[in-house]
Amino acid sequence: MSSTLLSVRDLNKSFPGVKALNQVSFDVRPGSVHAVCGENGAGKSTLMKIINGIYQPDSGTIHVRGEEVHIKSPIDARAHGIAMISQELNYVPEMTIAESFFMGRLPLKYGRVNWRYIRGEAKRVMTEEGLDFSGNRRLNTLTVSEIQTLEILRAVYHSAEILIMDEPTSAIAHKEVESLFAKIRALRDEGKSIIYISHKMDEVFQLADDVSVLRDGAIVSSQPAQETTSARVIAQMVGRDLDHQSYPKERVELGAMVFKASRLSRENAFEDINLEIRAGEIVGLAGLIGAGRSEVVRAVFGLDPLDSGTVEVDGVLVRTNTPKKAIEHGIAMLSEDRRLVGIIPKLSIKKNATLASLKKVIHGGFHRSSVEEQLVTEYFQKMNVKAPSTETRIESLSGGNQQKVLLARWLIADPKVMLLDEPTRGIDVGAKFEIYKLMTALARQGRAILMISSELPELIGMCDRIYVMSAGRMTAELEPHQFSQETILKHAMNQIEVA
Ligand SMILES: Nc1ncnc2c1ncn2[C@@H]1O[C@H](COP(=O)(O)OP(=O)(O)OP(=O)(O)O)[C@@H](O)[C@H]1O
Ligand SMILES: [Mg+2]
Repeated sequence: MSSTLLSVRDLNKSFPGVKALNQVSFDVRPGSVHAVCGENGAGKSTLMKIINGIYQPDSGTIHVRGEEVHIKSPIDARAHGIAMISQELNYVPEMTIAESFFMGRLPLKYGRVNWRYIRGEAKRVMTEEGLDFSGNRRLNTLTVSEIQTLEILRAVYHSAEILIMDEPTSAIAHKEVESLFAKIRALRDEGKSIIYISHKMDEVFQLADDVSVLRDGAIVSSQPAQETTSARVIAQMVGRDLDHQSYPKERVELGAMVFKASRLSRENAFEDINLEIRAGEIVGLAGLIGAGRSEVVRAVFGLDPLDSGTVEVDGVLVRTNTPKKAIEHGIAMLSEDRRLVGIIPKLSIKKNATLASLKKVIHGGFHRSSVEEQLVTEYFQKMNVKAPSTETRIESLSGGNQQKVLLARWLIADPKVMLLDEPTRGIDVGAKFEIYKLMTALARQGRAILMISSELPELIGMCDRIYVMSAGRMTAELEPHQFSQETILKHAMNQIEVA
């Protein structure tokens, strides 16, 4: 038996203006978890999309079990036992579990779709897995993590042996991450191989048997995880030693109350939420996924209606029932879901970045393109956005680089209050530090910043105060001397003792 399940040799792939992959070679052993690490734009997703048949390489070869394969489409990939658990979860919300299980390969009987068989099989697999889903349930009633589990089960059912997971834990909760890891380990023990992409070094070193590092489209190392360390992997990713980074937090003299939200409620989402942020203050909003944190900021920003409650900016009551009004009152929001309320895919980086600051770039009816160019270029360089130019369409950027452009959008808009929902999700270690530095600079300028984050060290490292929510209610407000992961988690898991 060959000791490699998947073998990639000398892959090259260029996009207009970018060499995304440069002579990439690596091997995946059967029954292993192989992590692929690299900065935003290093080429990780491009490499996976080639293995999954979404992109064609310019040159190079792929062997599965020692045999050369030509993967022209994801269907081809599946025929070779390769499946990708998609990062963006492309599913049809109205589809039932049973239908989705056989999507693209409906079994026929006498020329008709064999629904009985489909429902029976879906039920059998769910039961074996200990899930009590009815096959008739529609996908839009499931959580992101349930859909992910379903995708994994489906891939394995259709005899996938190589599973590709591109940042699978970016949208799921703490507890669900543990069950995902258990599932990954079980699959590995059955002899399947998992290619795992993540920016989270702790995950990589918990799971991986082998680690490959990509930098600027080239493999810089590929070795057993035991023979390396997270510090070395990070150094290889960025091409230099990062001095051990603590957070670039500065104590800033706090000013007047800039933002105050009182008694905010929205049915089935959150109740009686009070938030206060002073000039120069960075306030955290902690909680588990589903606690209602994003719902609160969405409502403050006018994306969802409020049932009751008031919002004040600089001591004046304001109505922010649409995002346009919120922006006019100096409130900006960076969404956790950049696909829903974020990027406009077909527009350039420049247009996406200045979208919230049109007043600055259009003056007296004239489009001042030099001002626009200058503004965008400044942030483009500051945040080290990896793209051929500011005219590049944002959809062609890597995930992390899209996030940087969205953050730049709000920095250019120059708001008083910034509501940042998971601002560093999907961002590589080096760029994270740049974002923290920007937040510190904003605080120094007297802005009020609210940061939702599921990464507790980041909240503890950057915040002046941390609110904690659980099940739609505020359960704690912590001062720095009370900050610890245990304390935050305790309040985040607190089922409310109603007063
Ligand atoms: N469809 C495309 N058209 C043009 N350029 C692309 C396209 N897809 C990727 N690129 C470019 O190829 C390079 C590698 O991108 P890729 O998405 O593979 O990065 P990544 O390592 O997955 O990054 P991230 O950690 O941010 O997800 C980037 O410079 C990106 O802008
Ligand atoms: Mg990617």
